[in-house]
Amino acid sequence: MDLNEQHYTLTINSPGRINLIGEHTDYNNGFVLPTAIDKKIQFKFKKNGTTDTCNVYSKNFDTSFTFNLNNVKPSEQQWENYILGVIYEIQQLSDKLAGFDCIFTSDIPVGSGISSSAALECGIAFGLNELFELGLPRITLVEIGQRAEHNYVGTKCGIMDQFASVMSKAGHVILLDCQSLEYEHVPIHIKPYKILLLNTNVSHNLADGEYNKRRSLCEQGVAIIQKQYPEVQSLRDVSSEMLAEFKTVFTEDMYNKCTYVVEEKTRVLDSVEALKNDKLAVLGANMYATHDGLSNLYEVSCEELDFLVDFSKKYDTIIGARMMGGGFGGCTINIIHEDAVEDFIAAASEAYFNKFNIKLTAFEANPSEGTAIVL
Ligand code: GLA
Repeated sequence: MDLNEQHYTLTINSPGRINLIGEHTDYNNGFVLPTAIDKKIQFKFKKNGTTDTCNVYSKNFDTSFTFNLNNVKPSEQQWENYILGVIYEIQQLSDKLAGFDCIFTSDIPVGSGISSSAALECGIAFGLNELFELGLPRITLVEIGQRAEHNYVGTKCGIMDQFASVMSKAGHVILLDCQSLEYEHVPIHIKPYKILLLNTNVSHNLADGEYNKRRSLCEQGVAIIQKQYPEVQSLRDVSSEMLAEFKTVFTEDMYNKCTYVVEEKTRVLDSVEALKNDKLAVLGANMYATHDGLSNLYEVSCEELDFLVDFSKKYDTIIGARMMGGGFGGCTINIIHEDAVEDFIAAASEAYFNKFNIKLTAFEANPSEGTAIVL
């Protein structure tokens, strides 16, 4: 494959995302509050003149693979499935793809809960849409990314990550209604506070299976509620009072999972109002409450994440913190006063290393533009 980047005609930036609040609500038709950030995968694309041969090279891993458009099927190499899955989904909608070469490089830490996978899926979809003038709207690219993850990667994810990666606007978060896909870009004015991510640098395996298990428990809960309330389509339609009626019918595990989701729905809407009215303390308190729910009811946290959130609680300069993303590792998100950032990182890193013998990485996240062509 041609590795001379000068020959490539199209450059695309595809960002990772954060989520202020609204975790594990997307596949329950609830609300989320994510945005793209200034960490991204950069792709270079070109047509290679063949009708069906495609080459993809990852600079970070210094590894490439070749596939044929007439024979797209899942690979044993999981990272290839993020790409092959997108190709497969595009082929369900268009016959305009032809041979191409693609080189990409990433500064999104893998497994850190800021969606390097959505950035990969959506960057490929966006790039091929441009290169071959497929004419697919952004929302279709988002859905292609999500379906690739379901059908080729095997995680039954919601739509938040792909939506945030593609649809974000700099300086804003997106209030997304995951049922109707209606959305609003909400300006985020939090100065003198900053968004700081602490990466545990752990990513406990089995996470995908655990993710799908929770999704299924929520769906089983809905199926039981539906027998009494046929109008209920998802946990979105369930109030705390309604759920309480099922306390003795559900298993404890199912009840806890559904309780978390129903409570989180309210916290997101409350937090958006707070953000719009500059009531950061309310947002912060909700973030801590979300962490509590994710840790104790939804059970997707881990020792390392809990440790960091507890550590943050000791600081008045931190308004709120919680684990972010699917869980079982990855990052905490912290809203912290700009003057406190440096000292806090030093203290948290030391405490974390003393406890786990693992190095913490910390970085600020700035709400940024979604997937875009680099001119
Ligand atoms: C992962 C999934 C998302 C969402 C989050 C949890 O990032 O890809 O769809 O469910 O977990 O909020």
